[in-house]
Amino acid sequence: MKIGILTSGGDCPGLNAVIRGVVLKGIAVHGQEFVGFLDGWRGVVEGDVINIPRTLVRGIAKQGGTILGTSRTNPFENNGGPDVIKANMDRLGIDAIIAIGGEGTLAAAKRLTDAGLKIVGVPKTVDNDLDATDYTFGFDTAVEIATEAIDRLRTTGESHHRTMIAEVMGRHVGWIALHAGMASGAHAILIPEQKASMEQITEWVLSARDRGRAPLVVVAEGFVPDGQESPHSERGLDTFGRPRLGGIAELLAPELEARTGIETRATVLGHIQRGGVPTAFDRVLATRLGLAAIDSVVEKRWGTMVSLNGTDIVHVGFDAALGNLKSVPQNRYDEAAVLFG
Ligand code: F6P
Repeated sequence: MKIGILTSGGDCPGLNAVIRGVVLKGIAVHGQEFVGFLDGWRGVVEGDVINIPRTLVRGIAKQGGTILGTSRTNPFENNGGPDVIKANMDRLGIDAIIAIGGEGTLAAAKRLTDAGLKIVGVPKTVDNDLDATDYTFGFDTAVEIATEAIDRLRTTGESHHRTMIAEVMGRHVGWIALHAGMASGAHAILIPEQKASMEQITEWVLSARDRGRAPLVVVAEGFVPDGQESPHSERGLDTFGRPRLGGIAELLAPELEARTGIETRATVLGHIQRGGVPTAFDRVLATRLGLAAIDSVVEKRWGTMVSLNGTDIVHVGFDAALGNLKSVPQNRYDEAAVLFG
């Protein structure tokens, strides 16, 4: 059996560990052959592949990024669609696809599976917003990077008696902000799931300052400030028609400075959170997902993805993952909010 692997959507530390897990077990246990589609669905639509021998995955579990490249190509656009993809797979002798990606990738994989293609999925997102899996790999690394950066912002903030605002990733959900904010002892954590008025944020900042602290605010890029309908976006849309986010911290800083009289600085962490080596937790999770994904192929579990349930790797239908986002529940926010101000 020849299997094609693709990584699609925003990259994320751990992608290479998944590829390695799939290929090592597939060759050693099942005697399979592997190719990689280059740059996500683009490689599938254009039939652009490379062979993946065992030597190509040597030592890559700790390597950031993806050896296959990625893109936000929609497989139903640019002359794509199930017929083109099926023809490419037949021509290249590829029997099945393992698609490693987030919501957009898995939604496309579901449509293609419904059209008769043989696909299994591996969930991926630093945002940790995919339902039907307890954690996605990449999230732990992003939290680790954000926490380290926020710890650094704190010391310079303290020296200058400033308010520091750190903006982290989190398009629809505030998991990175919640975890990195809690780990670094932030005085306010602003997330897409929760409204917080400027009056409330000002109160938290002043309360921290009055106790002699340099106020620290962590904001997720998808946070919607008072008086706005949608998250701050000034860089147009991506290929899936989603607004490119980023810049909310820069918007909040002058407003907060005017209200509090405290000099305020904003830092946008951006793609640094997605780069570099994965944590040990993410390497292990990604490897285990890869090992399970190749079993899914052998067991012909088309239209399902592997997922983490407690400490077990299980199989769930694409539908379960795509039904809704895994947002920060009220009790997790309330728990953290006790420490604000
Ligand atoms: O999907 C994860 C994510 O990191 C979001 O948090 C962020 O909005 C987006 O990707 C950034 O996408 P791009 O890499 O295309 O700028």
